Amino acid sequence: MAVGLDRRARRALALMGIERWTLRAAGESAEAGERRARDSEAAPAAPASAPAGAVPAPAPAPPPLADTIDVEAMDVDALRATVAGCQRCGLHRTRANTVFGVGSLQADWMFVGEAPGAQEDRQGEPFVGRAGHLLNAMLHATGRERQAVFIANVLKCRPPNNRDPSADEAAQCAPYLQRQIALIRPKVIIALGRIAAQRLLGVDTPLGRLRGRAHQWQTDSGPVPLVVTYHPAYLLRSPGEKRKAWEDLRLIMELSA
Ligand code: URA
Repeated sequence: MAVGLDRRARRALALMGIERWTLRAAGESAEAGERRARDSEAAPAAPASAPAGAVPAPAPAPPPLADTIDVEAMDVDALRATVAGCQRCGLHRTRANTVFGVGSLQADWMFVGEAPGAQEDRQGEPFVGRAGHLLNAMLHATGRERQAVFIANVLKCRPPNNRDPSADEAAQCAPYLQRQIALIRPKVIIALGRIAAQRLLGVDTPLGRLRGRAHQWQTDSGPVPLVVTYHPAYLLRSPGEKRKAWEDLRLIMELSA
């Protein structure tokens, strides 16, 4: 264990499963580890890239969401039902379930992950696999339980083979997440991992440069602090980064005190 930590920090780190410090695999970036680790039951990775010289087909322009549904007027039940029937992108063809989100509608912490994995798709609930167990342990270390926060994802449907969400899929799903944030009105939004952070903030900055400080999410009633931290699946593969995740949790606790 690390020396110089107070008792509460030591207990919290132990609850998060930090028994000893280990180094990340040589040369492995946070992003690479996160992609590799995202789903504890990851299916084989999608084929790498198109053959050299191949010209990707342009994606058809998505219809504007406002043409078909007015999510801004929806309460949680209407939003949940709309998400359950959503066919705005191709992911509805391969999903078993939509994954709306789970937790307290009065939550002061709202976690946003990337997209459901295989287990989440089967159960219709976010973060139920090994990454979810670590997230629960991290919460417990702060004195909170899963039911007291709200947990959602950028995408409500699982991308096949756990590939990254496409720009179009994220754009089609964004109004749902925006409405969830507006309804819950958390004191702090926590982006779990690079994809969630970059989508929420609209940047392509690496995660390491986004974490460690409070960003802002603009709402009608003013800005809400947004903190970026590591995806728990990445922490499972890189337990040496849990110390930084604990620093992020401390920042979140300070911001919501
Ligand atoms: N990873 C995510 O980003 N979200 C989940 O719900 C599960 C794994």
